Amino acid sequence: MTDERITSLTETPDWRYLLKEFYEFYRRMSSGGSDKIRAHQRAVREAISKTLADRPAVRLGPPVRRPVTVHLRRALDLGRRYQMDGVIRAIDAVADDLSWQFGYDKVPKGLENRYAYAEIAGPNGPVATERVILGLVLFAPGCVYPAHAHDDITESYICLSGAVSENHQGVYEPGSLIFNPPGHMHRITVSDREPSLLGYAWVGPAEQLRGQKMVFSRPRPGR
Ligand SMILES: [Fe+2]
Repeated sequence: MTDERITSLTETPDWRYLLKEFYEFYRRMSSGGSDKIRAHQRAVREAISKTLADRPAVRLGPPVRRPVTVHLRRALDLGRRYQMDGVIRAIDAVADDLSWQFGYDKVPKGLENRYAYAEIAGPNGPVATERVILGLVLFAPGCVYPAHAHDDITESYICLSGAVSENHQGVYEPGSLIFNPPGHMHRITVSDREPSLLGYAWVGPAEQLRGQKMVFSRPRPGR
């Protein structure tokens, strides 16, 4: 990437604090009695602590905004109301350096104004690691995020602000976790009153993490 600045977590401690806030979130949150979710939460925590111990590079490109980022201020404000203060403040501290992306070569119709994601850690950075991908997804009110699945990747979304539903199977507000095992098709709808900010974590084999994108894939029979 042109104009990329390569630095370290020592030089940019706000990125370290953000990773620590993600770690804390995955430590504090209940597993709801699910052994699969508990194992995933542990895998995310281990990946984060190993990443911190690796002393990773931090690669900062020029910040990129997308149409949906006009809702970021409101999404952060809403998150504070729900006692998500630690993670919200840590996101705010790096907000000027976030690179918001679509992930699609061709963005599905209507989505370009209502959705974007920004990576926090992973093979593409900004915090360079092959152990985990962490990021943020921002949805405008009323957004419908099309059905997709992640092969060989275990995913969780954590709700930081607003309210979303997945596959019409429950409503998730700040503090909730949505668990998507590998290959699970999921479609997300967003409250039409407020924007929603989700964090996400992907764990899986390094070669799979390298190739992953927030992309739409067609539902397959039986999924
Ligand atoms: Fe997903």
